[in-house]
Amino acid sequence: MANVIVIGAQWGDEGKGKITDLLSRSADVVVRSQGGVNAGHTVVVQGQTFKLHLIPSGILYPETECIIGSGTVIDPQVLLEEIDALEALNVSTSNLKISQTAHVTMPYHRLIDKASEERRGKYKIGTTGRGIGPTYADKSERTGIRIIDLMQPETLREKLEWTISYKNVILDKLYNLSPLDPEQVIGEYLQYAERLKPYVIDSSLKIFEAVQKRKNILFEGAQGTLLDLDHGTYPYVTSSNPIAGGACVGSGVGPTIIDRVIGVAKAYTTRVGEGPFPTELHDETGDLLGDRGAEFGTTTGRRRRCGWFDALIGRYAVRINGLDCLAVTKLDVLDELKEIKVCVAYDIDGRICHDFPSSSLEFARCQPVYRTVPGWQRSTSDCRSLEDLPPQALDYLKLLAELMEVPISIVSIGASRDQTIIVEDPIHGPKRALLDSNGTPVTTHELHNKDQVK
Ligand code: GDP
Ligand code: IMO
Ligand code: MG
Repeated sequence: MANVIVIGAQWGDEGKGKITDLLSRSADVVVRSQGGVNAGHTVVVQGQTFKLHLIPSGILYPETECIIGSGTVIDPQVLLEEIDALEALNVSTSNLKISQTAHVTMPYHRLIDKASEERRGKYKIGTTGRGIGPTYADKSERTGIRIIDLMQPETLREKLEWTISYKNVILDKLYNLSPLDPEQVIGEYLQYAERLKPYVIDSSLKIFEAVQKRKNILFEGAQGTLLDLDHGTYPYVTSSNPIAGGACVGSGVGPTIIDRVIGVAKAYTTRVGEGPFPTELHDETGDLLGDRGAEFGTTTGRRRRCGWFDALIGRYAVRINGLDCLAVTKLDVLDELKEIKVCVAYDIDGRICHDFPSSSLEFARCQPVYRTVPGWQRSTSDCRSLEDLPPQALDYLKLLAELMEVPISIVSIGASRDQTIIVEDPIHGPKRALLDSNGTPVTTHELHNKDQVK
């Protein structure tokens, strides 16, 4: 049995949905621990595309229990639409559960998110406009509404009467927006509550019971390492903790139950929204990556910014998340390129730096230092093993693993389930230390031997 965290190693949209769906084959429970309907995870199964925002990507397996954990923020309207859309496609949501302590996104959160972005002008973050920041802000300010409040009409009415009158002052005085009608909002949310009731549970207890029964639990990250509120490219981040540590906090489990952490990274880099992006390409190569990779946001439809792979971000993701291994996605998007660049260092005002800077001001001044490698100019979409890959593609993957000092266990060369090369079972394969005592990356072969000695 193994309990595994899947996280995004870049700025989100790395293909976590595809990888989670793939690994859900051997999961009994799949948990979302943070984020809200800002997430957009696309899963393609037998030509059918599923776009998930809050519901874990394990939902496509009828036996798998799916839990929306307490660290998430839930917009009931969007969640119910998502449930209805899945049911309409004959995907049962009877195994879906939602945490009673998750916070609820209210209409004033969405309004304030959009209005504050407008007010920020050139300082805007480029949020998804889904009310995520304001919902988490209320959680921290201790004025939030939780799912459990929705289940108690009297408590909900009492809390919302006070909160809406308070938010109306902000909407009116700060943003010049029309006030909300408390009765209308209360009525609307009581209707959502009726529909959500059968799904609501004590999620931490449910997960703990699964741990005790030695079930396989998969924690599906949303967003990515550089969007982390504490360790990302602040202030151009989301308002939760998408890093591996956030999975424990947001699910209500202790770190000792986690066996593996798998990072998902694209073979290049994308970013949606504002903020520095050292390897961003503003030329035809950037357009090619965007077009071939169909780089449009699943949630907002915005075009994603594209650039070369940044190994400093990769190494940072290994450090911050304690990655055991990596799933590299969208290798096929690079198929046509004659040459490929990888950022191996930053030049910060003439100083060469090999570690991702924690200072946002420094990060904004980073100029990429590239290593250029030959492309393969051949389709990889039909490759099903490392041997099938063109030698240059294999060399490229080896370079990424070497620069990041992490083994690659999955390579994805297309959106469908079968367009995947499993280099080594990331759940049941041997768990490796990143480096041996001499600082050298440990190979599988050496590790097998070490395991035998033990
Ligand atoms: P997530 O937010 O991390 O789950 O990623 P998204 O679903 O937002 O974005 C990834 C997009 O790439 C989706 O449209 C996937 O269907 C698609 N995708 C995933 N893996 C691959 C791959 O290996 N190759 C290609 N071409 N597309 C992929
Ligand atoms: P998945 O799970 C990519 C970005 C937004 C914006 C910043 C803050 O699909 O990888 P927010 O609405 O969260 O306050 O916006 O974070 N962002 C994402 N970018 N993938 C996501 O989710 C994202 N969720 C938020 O574009 O820059
Ligand atoms: Mg996405």
